Amino acid sequence: MANEILTSTSSPQTGLDEQTAVVDFQGVSIAFDQKTVLDDISFTVARGETRIILGPAGGGKSVLMKLANGLLRPSSGTIRIFGEEINHMPERDLFKLRAKIGMVFQESALFDSLSVEDNVAYRLHEEHVSEAEAHERVVEALKFVELEQAIQKFPSELSGGMRRRVSIARAIISKPDLILYDSPTGGLDPITSTTIVELVMKQRDVSHTTSLMITHRLQDAFTLAMNRFDPETGKMRPIPDGGVDESTKFLVLNEGKIVFDGTTLELVQTQDPWLRDYLS
Ligand SMILES: Nc1ncnc2c1ncn2[C@@H]1O[C@H](COP(=O)(O)OP(=O)(O)OP(=O)(O)O)[C@@H](O)[C@H]1O
Ligand SMILES: [Mg+2]
Repeated sequence: MANEILTSTSSPQTGLDEQTAVVDFQGVSIAFDQKTVLDDISFTVARGETRIILGPAGGGKSVLMKLANGLLRPSSGTIRIFGEEINHMPERDLFKLRAKIGMVFQESALFDSLSVEDNVAYRLHEEHVSEAEAHERVVEALKFVELEQAIQKFPSELSGGMRRRVSIARAIISKPDLILYDSPTGGLDPITSTTIVELVMKQRDVSHTTSLMITHRLQDAFTLAMNRFDPETGKMRPIPDGGVDESTKFLVLNEGKIVFDGTTLELVQTQDPWLRDYLS
């Protein structure tokens, strides 16, 4: 299957070898005003892996994601991204690091005064890419999210699902080595949510980009774990015989602690009473 062929490339941008985790948290804690939000968190995300992050509201999911791209710094512990320690990384180096990371924020975070084209091209403008090349890349990214017809529109003219698509196009425009999706389906109806999950899946199965995806919807998490994108039909389809995607794993956070770190099968077979209750 195409899926297996594409998993073992080394990144042209980071030159990372395959053993080095793309995301590596060791003993990470962070507190705000004496209140511990993440408490001694350790986990790794391998190259090509999609890590779904679940857990109740306020459990520290967004904080974890902001730590991963250096928007927040930990109180203690070590964070390595692409093998590089970022705890004390100077801001200008973090800026370079973030050029290799695509982020889809919890509320889309589009600029209302900019057109879809300028929103998606934003990072390219910062990198002084020529107008002609930027336009070409914007069109390509918008095609990926099936929104090329909206290129001249403004965010206020778009539905919630379309705004989320624009946000995804913006995150993938630089062909990042890591994508962070913070609740990309939050606030969307179930049908629109599924179309967004399908895009996350397409990115996983076509580009094999390492990613973290926070979601509140178990349904979205299991859709991602149990389906694969079919490039021929342009749609997802269930993995045969009730199989699961091996590159998709789970992390469950509750009250600042990791309560689960493992595969889909391990999650559905868990005997942990709190997890079983959460999943039911
Ligand atoms: N910059 C900050 N300053 C102070 N407290 C913060 C800050 N960011 C997050 N917190 C607190 O950290 C805790 C975890 O927040 P976080 O946003 O990570 O939760 P979450 O798991 O993403 O929740 P949700 O599912 O609602 O998005 C909350 O109690 C929040 O108030
Ligand atoms: Mg959050």
